[in-house]
Amino acid sequence: MSMKISFHLLSGDRLAKTCELNANYKSNSHNKELQNEIHRNFILNFFWVLKEWGESMSNIIAIVQARMSSSRLPGKILLPLMDKTILEQVINRVRPVEQISDIIVATSDNGMDDIVESFCLEKDIPCFRGSEENVLERFYFCAREYEADIIVRITADDPLKDSEVIAKAVSLFEVGDYDYVSNTLEPTYPEGLDVEVFSFKALEAAYKKAELSSEKEHVTPYLYKNPAGFRLCNFKNETDLSKLRWTVDTPEDYLFVKQVYQTLYHKPEEIFLLRDILDLLKQKPELSAINSGHKRNEGYLNSLRKEEEKKEEEEQKQEKAAKVLQEHSLRQRIYGNELKYVNQVLSTQFRSSQGAVMMQRLEEAFAKKIGTKFAIAMMNGTCTLHAILEAAGIGVSDEVIVPPLTMSSTTFAVLQANATPVFADVDPNSFTINPISILNRITSRTKAIITVSLYGLSPDMDVIMRIASEYHLLVIEDNAECLLGTYKGRMVGTLGHIASYSFQSSKHITSGEGGMVVTDSLPLAQAVRRVSSLGYAGVDATKAKITKKTIQDPDYARHLTMGWNYRMPELCAAVALGQLENVDALVSRRVKVAQMYEEVIEDTDWLLPQFVGDDHKCSYWTYAVRLMHPFITWKEFRDRYVANGGDGFYAAWRLTYLEPMMTQRSLLKRDKFISGKNLRRYKKGLCPIAEELQGQLLQFKTNYWNDEDAKKQIQALNKTIEFFSKRSTDQLQ
Ligand SMILES: Cc1ncc(COP(=O)(O)O)c(C=O)c1O
Repeated sequence: MSMKISFHLLSGDRLAKTCELNANYKSNSHNKELQNEIHRNFILNFFWVLKEWGESMSNIIAIVQARMSSSRLPGKILLPLMDKTILEQVINRVRPVEQISDIIVATSDNGMDDIVESFCLEKDIPCFRGSEENVLERFYFCAREYEADIIVRITADDPLKDSEVIAKAVSLFEVGDYDYVSNTLEPTYPEGLDVEVFSFKALEAAYKKAELSSEKEHVTPYLYKNPAGFRLCNFKNETDLSKLRWTVDTPEDYLFVKQVYQTLYHKPEEIFLLRDILDLLKQKPELSAINSGHKRNEGYLNSLRKEEEKKEEEEQKQEKAAKVLQEHSLRQRIYGNELKYVNQVLSTQFRSSQGAVMMQRLEEAFAKKIGTKFAIAMMNGTCTLHAILEAAGIGVSDEVIVPPLTMSSTTFAVLQANATPVFADVDPNSFTINPISILNRITSRTKAIITVSLYGLSPDMDVIMRIASEYHLLVIEDNAECLLGTYKGRMVGTLGHIASYSFQSSKHITSGEGGMVVTDSLPLAQAVRRVSSLGYAGVDATKAKITKKTIQDPDYARHLTMGWNYRMPELCAAVALGQLENVDALVSRRVKVAQMYEEVIEDTDWLLPQFVGDDHKCSYWTYAVRLMHPFITWKEFRDRYVANGGDGFYAAWRLTYLEPMMTQRSLLKRDKFISGKNLRRYKKGLCPIAEELQGQLLQFKTNYWNDEDAKKQIQALNKTIEFFSKRSTDQLQ
């Protein structure tokens, strides 16, 4: 918890006007003398207040970003500097800052930086590894791992860092009402004495919102580029020393720093400060000449330039992609960043500190795409449903209403929870669960309804939600077959209380196997996470990873609830994230193929496609058609279709309650949990419309990634329809 002293409470309005302490560091129009007086007064008064109050209750950590790769001076951070390396000297100079509880080296997960990790291990320095390019992400995960409230950002190539300057920044942060404090917004300190202090909340916001690569590479630009969103504070040195270069980027810089150390460094515990170096430079002005002539902040400026170039490249790429989309031909299904992300996971060597990183990225991106507050990734779209039921406390003797015309996982999940599946019939036109039938199945034991967005089409959710609200039932959307479908303009997945998705190989996006739960409900999300993560205490709605620091305690109580190990593996998360980035194109492709089928069957009155009303946008997992011909059988139609060059199509699944495992009690083995009355219902006649429909449905594949393949199917269908139309006319004559 952060200990914030109210600025106004202790200092009055006069101080509030101090420019240096103004959240908007740019407004500089106040009286300078007054400012200086206020500043001195502030420093004197508030520092002792802090001292008097003892240690701050905030967990303040310094994160030292360090990596071996550097274009101008590779391996610079481990270069020797007197009796230590540059990295150790940096840490040595941060250590005297009393407010800082931990100093952590955050290096990249690139193999080149293995040496940094080994070095830290040897020296007993905590080390965290994360993304090489996205340093913002590395900071975020590191800060989360160490449960930081306040973060001090330190760069490992600045061995002249000044502990007094750092302490000043931290103190300003603690006593002011700021999100970000630094001395870099208007530089007045030598380059290399930069310090930035920010809250975990601000870091989290930047991590979630930053989009530009410069913002990700340099950690804090998102904060200081958005002064309206964050309370910023800049502090200055009395004289402008910004022209001095005390960082190590080039061999000349290294030489300069070495010279300074040779004169001023006597013992590790005697830290020389800014004023000592200035005195030295007064005596030996020739030292500054060693490394003059470089622009300040070259790294960031380069990054901005690269970004501009990348933007142009990206625009060209997007133009190209738009063209591809226009033609509705993707050529293949996996064509984005999937492999890159898989490699990123592999490069972590499955270190536990890197666990759930990809999963969390996927969850955040998925929640954003669907428009829910929470997303929880799991191993498949069956365990998602089971976890939801368990999380909602649904179990023995509770009834859950489900449709029978669906893949049987919907029902399996209910059985896995030891609850009773109760089957409601479907609508003969949309093929989705019929709200009237739901109403007829409700009893005093009913606890939930699982709606299925069949073939990409959601049921009439407004009516179902009204029924649910009347009877206090939980509504779970099983959207394994529907991604980016809409209902009355709303995204499917935001219509019920909670929703489940599948990334199994036939689905809109895939990771081979995979699943996701989305919801806006914090308690549900929290419970689902816990159930799917062995009941771990250290996880929550948005946190999939367990913090090492917390569990490294013999008294730690790990398991708060009973649970299952349903977490999505990182490799699957990597693929799913790559797929998600192309989800619009992948779904559009299926919709386009469905349109192609539609055009062919439009005038055939014995082929009835799934009815998609004006309120719905179907995402067409398959294109489903009802074969309603008095003489043509399902098998005949399929054989002719294949003979005409078609790939074949699927039949609808046998109705779940007619599967052997449901009709035979000895196979179901649920006598202990399901009443005899309910068990006897699992037989023919329970849902007459679904029973009639099931044998008539032709499920045409929509996953053809280019027009040539799709056209082959369309031609085969055309020919088949022509063949049977002619035969029908002949038979009738
Ligand atoms: C409607 C429905 N629910 C649940 C599932 C189960 O998903 P998974 O195969 O990922 O377990 C599927 C598909 O496989 C499905 O079609």
